[in-house]
Amino acid sequence: MQTPYRWLRLHDRAPALAYGADYNPEQWPRSTWDEDVRAMQAAGVTIVSLAIFSWARLEPAEGEYDLGWLDEVMDLLHAGGIAVDLATATASPPPWLTAKHPEILPVDAHGATIWPGGRQHWRPTSPVFREHALRLVRTMATRYGDHPALAAWHISNELGCHNVYDYSDDAAAAFRTWLIERYGDLDALNAAWGTAFWSQHYSDWAQILPPRQAATHPNPTQQLDFKRFSSDALKDYLRAERDVLRELTPQIPATTNFMVMGEQKPMDYADWAAEVDFVANDHYVQRGPRAQDELSFSANLTGHIAGGRPWFLMEHSTSAVNWQPINVAKKPGELARDSLTHVAHGADAVCFFQWRQSRAGAEKYHSAMLPHAGTDSEVYRSVVRLGETLRQLAPVAGTAQTPARAAILFDWTSWWASEQDSHPTDRLRYRQEALDWYSAFLDLGVRADVVPAGTDLTGYELVVAPVLHVVPAALGERLEAYVSGGGHLVTTYFSGIVDEHDHVWLGGYPGPLRDLLGIRIEEFAPLADDERAELDNGLTGTVWTDGITVTGPDVEVLASYKGGTPAITRRTVGPGSAAYVSTRLGPDGLAPVLRDLLSRAGVPSELPAELRGRVELAVRGDFHFLINRTAEPVELAGLPGEVLHGHPDLLEPRGVTVLRRPS
Ligand code: GAL
Repeated sequence: MQTPYRWLRLHDRAPALAYGADYNPEQWPRSTWDEDVRAMQAAGVTIVSLAIFSWARLEPAEGEYDLGWLDEVMDLLHAGGIAVDLATATASPPPWLTAKHPEILPVDAHGATIWPGGRQHWRPTSPVFREHALRLVRTMATRYGDHPALAAWHISNELGCHNVYDYSDDAAAAFRTWLIERYGDLDALNAAWGTAFWSQHYSDWAQILPPRQAATHPNPTQQLDFKRFSSDALKDYLRAERDVLRELTPQIPATTNFMVMGEQKPMDYADWAAEVDFVANDHYVQRGPRAQDELSFSANLTGHIAGGRPWFLMEHSTSAVNWQPINVAKKPGELARDSLTHVAHGADAVCFFQWRQSRAGAEKYHSAMLPHAGTDSEVYRSVVRLGETLRQLAPVAGTAQTPARAAILFDWTSWWASEQDSHPTDRLRYRQEALDWYSAFLDLGVRADVVPAGTDLTGYELVVAPVLHVVPAALGERLEAYVSGGGHLVTTYFSGIVDEHDHVWLGGYPGPLRDLLGIRIEEFAPLADDERAELDNGLTGTVWTDGITVTGPDVEVLASYKGGTPAITRRTVGPGSAAYVSTRLGPDGLAPVLRDLLSRAGVPSELPAELRGRVELAVRGDFHFLINRTAEPVELAGLPGEVLHGHPDLLEPRGVTVLRRPS
């Protein structure tokens, strides 16, 4: 982060893990508010996010403000000892604004308007929207900057959740400005976009458009640049709000809630992190196999986006959500385990969406801390117990994550580029491949950090870079230096294929990694859905295979396809190595491969053998979190350390034990 690290004012009082939720009192009569504060106190709530969707209530007509009710809520919370993460309230524009200025509404790739009726119906690049939103930010900062309840600013909400890709004329103009800055002149743009192809040469900036719905595949570099631009446009908007807040209330830290979770891929959060005073994230469990691994992966990546420093879990759910096809309720123990997994990976705050379950509106079936059933409910009782647990864990607050010996490289540009259209297969899933490797680490009981591609790799003994599709020359050189410095690199299919302009590296794949890996591939061989690739070690690959020729010295073929072509290779480079896995093996297939690679690299598990796979270990300084990955009890006997939470000898089903083990 470029700015000095600033944590919540809340923590000036006493080191503690913050606990709370989004609070939407405007959905409830005044009489409910006192009851809310009492139930929050009983649950140990210390902070709430307020006014996230309150614009229409705060500014009912242009320039006319009704802030009295919010003053009252702020005072009430303060009197109750509850701090406020106050929203700038700009997330959802009010009807008067969209009626007067329909030109702020986003437009999709087909030219259709995205109408009001939901939320976040605004163009990230609209100057009109920005003018109105920043006026509200100024009003909020002026009114509440000195309020004693104010702990932090919550800029907008989940920027880009619904409006990241806007194809409007505003977007077109801003895209051109962004391109002029990136390329300087049209010759450079024409070269980068490969416009000699399909008669796409531009002779005037005004001819350039966002990749709107075209007759067939739009130019891939135009698409990739539009993804970069769209992430940057929202980042620019984030900075605009933040700058107003910094001008008026420099003493108050400002954040916004990222969405490091699932297939939320348009925002490059590694690139955004420097813009906020502390990183905050929202995470929702997506039902499916290994959902708990995905939670751990996302928490881990969030922590490394935050540079290993503590971060704020702004939202997750106490139980079911409302936006999946089937919204499964959490099982006993899941609420606490999910929360504590985030804490294990560096969260210093545990917050939910939302405090009180709505009666009306699209989210009335979304769980909350205080469900429809009221305080006499299992969810609320679990919420109260979690509050107690977080108080026990107060000494953990402020501790940094202890780096692992292994890492997985995560790169937004490769995610964007590897999944574009007109590729060898549309079955490739970048994040899933990275997650499969993470699951394999968990199955082996070995800690791995999930780190953004720009991270200094020096301290890591083994680095997996799955589907590292975009490898500009400088990244290729960094990876070579890592390996020649003794590092063990593992990469996979469809890596090292293109440069930063999405132009293929020539001479055989994988371009700049060819010599390092000591292999050469002439042609990709993706698999049809009903095809499997059998390996001679008994494993089965799907999605992809490569026709590998070994070209370098010191290359060992670790596994071959039936028929003899190499499938997994490893080249020894002095004390380091560079390995290549040419097919999708899934977590179960990757585990034995990774076990071998880790053992050759000398990276051990830190867990006793009987716990590996069943228990996840995460470490923050002196604090060791042991997380039961199963629905069965797991015996822990014999682990040294003072017990801060949980049982010393037994991990309950889905349970967590936290030990203090001074190093
Ligand atoms: C988030 C959002 C919240 C709520 C929640 C429901 O995307 O920030 O306002 O909608 O999802 O899961």
